[in-house]
Amino acid sequence: MLESLIAHPQTGEFSMELTGLEDPQHMWRRLIAYLGLEDENVIVAMRRTSETLLRDAAEFVVGAYDYLASFDETASILGWEQEMDEEHLEERRQFFATWMARAIGVDLSDEFARYLFQAGILHAGHGPRATHTPPQWVMGAVSMVQAHFAERILHYGHERELAAIAIGGWDKYLMLQNYQMLAGYEAARKLDDGPLTVVIKLYGKLQAMAEREEQTVHIHSDDMLADALRKFFNYHPVLRQEFFEVSWRAPEGDVEATWSTDFEKVYVPRQGPYWRILLNGKEVRYHGGFDQPLNAGDVIALFPPGR
Ligand code: HEM
Repeated sequence: MLESLIAHPQTGEFSMELTGLEDPQHMWRRLIAYLGLEDENVIVAMRRTSETLLRDAAEFVVGAYDYLASFDETASILGWEQEMDEEHLEERRQFFATWMARAIGVDLSDEFARYLFQAGILHAGHGPRATHTPPQWVMGAVSMVQAHFAERILHYGHERELAAIAIGGWDKYLMLQNYQMLAGYEAARKLDDGPLTVVIKLYGKLQAMAEREEQTVHIHSDDMLADALRKFFNYHPVLRQEFFEVSWRAPEGDVEATWSTDFEKVYVPRQGPYWRILLNGKEVRYHGGFDQPLNAGDVIALFPPGR
C-alpha cells in the first residue's frame, strides 16, 4: 500500500522533482470545510442577510476610503497624505464595490479564490501602481467589514438565532478571504526575496495564462534552479498543472505513516508530451536537472511540448 504512494521522481538521469509548493486552491477548499462553511444552515442564514448588507454597501464603500485617507499609515500607502487623488479614489471605490458584491453574494468558488490570491499579489506592490500594502492594514480592513456586517444585521432586527448564525458565518468567511489574500501576498514577497535576479521566459499558452511574456525571480547566491522554480510556481500556481503531477513521498524510515500530513507532496514531470525547461539554452532534463546552481542573469525558458 505504502509502496504505491512513494514517488518515482527520476525522469532520466537528473532529479526533476519539486517540493515545498503551496496549493492555495486546495487550502481554500480545506478551510471552507474546516470552518463549517459547507453547512447549508450557515450559508442560508448568511444569504438571508445579504439584502440587508447590500442596502448599505455603497455608503460603506465611500466611508471606507474616507477612513483610509484619514489614518496616517493607510493614507501614506495610498499616496493621499496631502489630498485624495480623485481618479485613484474612483478606481479604488470601483474595485471595492466589485469585491463587496461578490462577498455579499457568499462567493465560495475557486475562481473567487484565485481573484483573492491575485489581490494579495497586487497588495505586495505587484500592481500597476506598484503600491505596497502590508497585510496588517488589509487584515484591519477585513475586520472592519466584519464589524460593519454584524452591526447592520443587528440594526435591521433580524431574528436572534438567524443573526447569530449569520454573523458567525460572515466572520469565518471574511477570515478565509483574508487568508487567501495573505497567501498571494507571501508568494509575491518570496518572488522578490534575494539580491540577484534570473529571468523566466514563457512561451506558448503560458503567456496568456500568466498574462506576461517573462517573469523576473529574485534569488540568493546559493540558490538552485529548484528554488527559483518553486518561487515561480508558487506565484503562478495555475501554471504548474501544465508541467507536473503530484506524487506523495513517505517520510524516511517511518513505515507507520498513515495521515496525509505525514507524506511529502512532490511535483514530478507529467507523463507523455512534456513542457521543456531550458537553462541558458540547455534542456535541464538532460543537463543537471533541478538541483543545479544558478547565477545572476541566468535565463530559464519554458517551452511547450513538441517545439
Ligand atoms: C477588505 C480588505 C481588502 C480587500 C478585500 C482588498 C481587495 C483588493 C482587490 C480584490 C484588489 C484588486 C483590484 C483589481 O482587480 O484591480 C486590490 C487592490 C489594491 N488594494 Fe486592496 N483590499 C483590501 C484592503 C486594502 C487596504 C486597506 C488598502 C490600502 C491601505 C488596499 C490597497 C490596495 C491597492 C493600492 C490596490 C491596487 C494595487 C495596484 O494597482 O498597484 N487594499 N485589493
